[in-house]
Amino acid sequence: MESASDLLPFARPEMPMEQTIEQTGAPETRAETAPVPDDRPLGPTGRPMPVLPDPKPVTEHGPARVISMCNQKGGVGKTTTTINLGAALAEFGRKVLLVDFDPQGSLSVGLGLHPHEMEHTVYNLLMDRTTRLEDVVVPSGVPGMDLLPSNIDLSAAEVQLVHEVAREQTLQRVLAPAIGAYDVILIDCQPSLGLLTVNALTASDGVIVPLECEYFALRGVALLKNTIDKVQERLNPKLEIDGVLGTMFDGRTLHGREVLERLVQAWGDKVYHTVIRRTVKFSDSTVAGEPITSYASDSTGAEAYRQLAKEVALRCLDA
Ligand SMILES: Nc1ncnc2c1ncn2[C@@H]1O[C@H](COP(=O)(O)OP(=O)(O)OP(=O)(O)O)[C@@H](O)[C@H]1O
Ligand SMILES: [Mg+2]
Repeated sequence: MESASDLLPFARPEMPMEQTIEQTGAPETRAETAPVPDDRPLGPTGRPMPVLPDPKPVTEHGPARVISMCNQKGGVGKTTTTINLGAALAEFGRKVLLVDFDPQGSLSVGLGLHPHEMEHTVYNLLMDRTTRLEDVVVPSGVPGMDLLPSNIDLSAAEVQLVHEVAREQTLQRVLAPAIGAYDVILIDCQPSLGLLTVNALTASDGVIVPLECEYFALRGVALLKNTIDKVQERLNPKLEIDGVLGTMFDGRTLHGREVLERLVQAWGDKVYHTVIRRTVKFSDSTVAGEPITSYASDSTGAEAYRQLAKEVALRCLDA
């Protein structure tokens, strides 16, 4: 059940901070208020933009950090971020596995797969112990990046898993053999907080929360934070929120900037300096069945995801 604070419309700037914090589900830590003298240019989040080095080169692969892309709100950029962050990390030499964990199968379609032509999917891995990871993994078309595809079959898993022993740990069990072979495993969650998403969070080290830079974007974030906290407490003590990513940002509108400002006030340093701007190139690249990093390699969208890859590497992979 959503609490009253989840149902409040997005906090307006004149609202007291307490209300904003409660509504955004942000942790107790708040953005630093003391101004630090800094002559670096301000980034889109209103903070000085750090210099982001290229990720450290790797000579051998694994163990992988498993990261879920999670927000129960639909259409916020989870799948787009999974594909393009993965492709950008692969460009930097990381071995990446993408897991399509949404019965809509958008991640698989976005990488050019046809939903009815998949021999094995994540569904088989979850429900049939004789299916091995290598039976399901397919190349993504991007060098260094593989995919575990899904289609609508996965929707049956949510129902069937309810009767399984250790039902929340099923994805963790099937991904275990992949940990040693990859540097990063990105799980594209469906827009719900049901058993599939709980499986993804239980299998993960970190969560990235993509949030559309629009009013109402923060609706339900408290509920998401609550779910993450419960999984961390009861099923997966190592789980942490790696970062909050502003997506579909339009710098020309005041409210886009206000949403980012509110996010930083509520989530502080968890908010990535990188912000993904709104551009039709993303839907074009989905139609083409490839990441924007190859479809429009020089576009601002491709550059933004490369920058995000550097931030993710700096915070969590190379730390
Ligand atoms: N930065 C962007 N600018 C413009 N369009 C975008 C951007 N990011 C994603 N889109 C488009 O918005 C739509 C929704 O994006 P996406 O599928 O990544 O969201 P999602 O959170 O995975 O959705 P769902 O909850 O349905 O799984 C897609 O058509 C995608 O191409
Ligand atoms: Mg999606």
